[in-house]
Amino acid sequence: MEVIRDWGLNIKAECGGALSCATCHVYVDKDWMDVVGAPSDEEEDMLDSVGDVRANSRLSCQILMSDALDGLKLTLAPSAAKD
Ligand code: FES
Repeated sequence: MEVIRDWGLNIKAECGGALSCATCHVYVDKDWMDVVGAPSDEEEDMLDSVGDVRANSRLSCQILMSDALDGLKLTLAPSAAKD
C-alpha cells in the first residue's frame, strides 16, 4: 500500500495500514499469488466487508514488500480507488 501511495497512484488507504478500512483492496496477478501468500484471518474478515472481493483479493497494506516481490503485479479494486 505504501509503495502504491508513494507513487501517487489512486488508492484511498484511509486507515494508513491499520487493517481497519479495506480501502487498500487489490487483486493480485495470478502468477504472483503463491509468492504473496494467503491473507490472515483478520485480513479475510476485513475483506468480507467489501463487495468486490475475488479469490485473488488482498489488502495491500498487509503485503510486506521484499526483494521476492520485485515486479509484483496488482490491480486496484474499484472500491479502493479515490473518487
Ligand atoms: S489501508 Fe486500511 S486496511 Fe489497508
